[in-house]
Amino acid sequence: MLEVRALTKHFGGLLANDGVDLNLAVGQVHVVIGPNGAGKSTLINILSGDLRPTAGSVRLDGRDITGLPADRVSRLGIGRSYQKTNIFQSFTVFENCRLAAQSRAPHPLRLFSRASGYAETNALAARAIEQAELQGREDRVASTLSHGEQRQLEIAMSLATAPKVLLLDEPLAGMGAEESQRMVALINKLKSDHAILLVEHDMDAVFAVADVLTVMVEGRVLATGSADQIRDNEEVQRAYLGTEQDDG
Ligand SMILES: Nc1ncnc2c1ncn2[C@@H]1O[C@H](COP(=O)(O)OP(=O)(O)O)[C@@H](O)[C@H]1O
Ligand SMILES: [Mg+2]
Repeated sequence: MLEVRALTKHFGGLLANDGVDLNLAVGQVHVVIGPNGAGKSTLINILSGDLRPTAGSVRLDGRDITGLPADRVSRLGIGRSYQKTNIFQSFTVFENCRLAAQSRAPHPLRLFSRASGYAETNALAARAIEQAELQGREDRVASTLSHGEQRQLEIAMSLATAPKVLLLDEPLAGMGAEESQRMVALINKLKSDHAILLVEHDMDAVFAVADVLTVMVEGRVLATGSADQIRDNEEVQRAYLGTEQDDG
């Protein structure tokens, strides 16, 4: 679904992404791990169109989307969530999702004058709320939700754009054990009809959810493989897993 080749991003003299290759497929959760500053968020920002790469290419379902702006990328089928929550706190769950769905329409403002467009946007929002398992909380003001529910709402907002690819930047950050488990179950459910890229630090969650793992260090891909391959990779152990490795 998504083919990333030799993706490179300079910030002045800093190489934040350096020749990154990555493939995402529907039915797979592809987890990207790596220390702070490894370039994980930069990778997501490029794939979502929020940043333009310095070099390299991105193909979505065979189509070259390299360097397209975020609104086009979103309409073509890539949804994302942010490392820091990005919801409208004073709006309800439904309103947040409806706004996200509207951003996907070819002429967002014209929707207000078209009854069919309005109905379509409402339907997209309602479906996203159900997919993200927030049914019954449509009319809750976002600021009154628990932290875990706010992160679910962010997932709902990315689902409201009807994406084929979901880019999730640390959706488990700041969650308690129970909330994390619920989010992991949700991600596992969503992979059946989405290609998912997940950035995550909690190694228990990573190994519970990863079909494929990529380790990034200093902008480069150090290794890609199954959870077992990554655990057994000596270079990864030296560079990253290191002291966290505990085989009991
Ligand atoms: N907009 C930016 N301008 C300049 N430097 C940036 C910018 N975004 C990220 N960086 C730098 O790029 C490197 C990779 O950052 P980031 O992608 O956020 O890493 P990660 O998400 O893996 O922690 C870091 O050194 C960071 O300081
Ligand atoms: Mg980051």
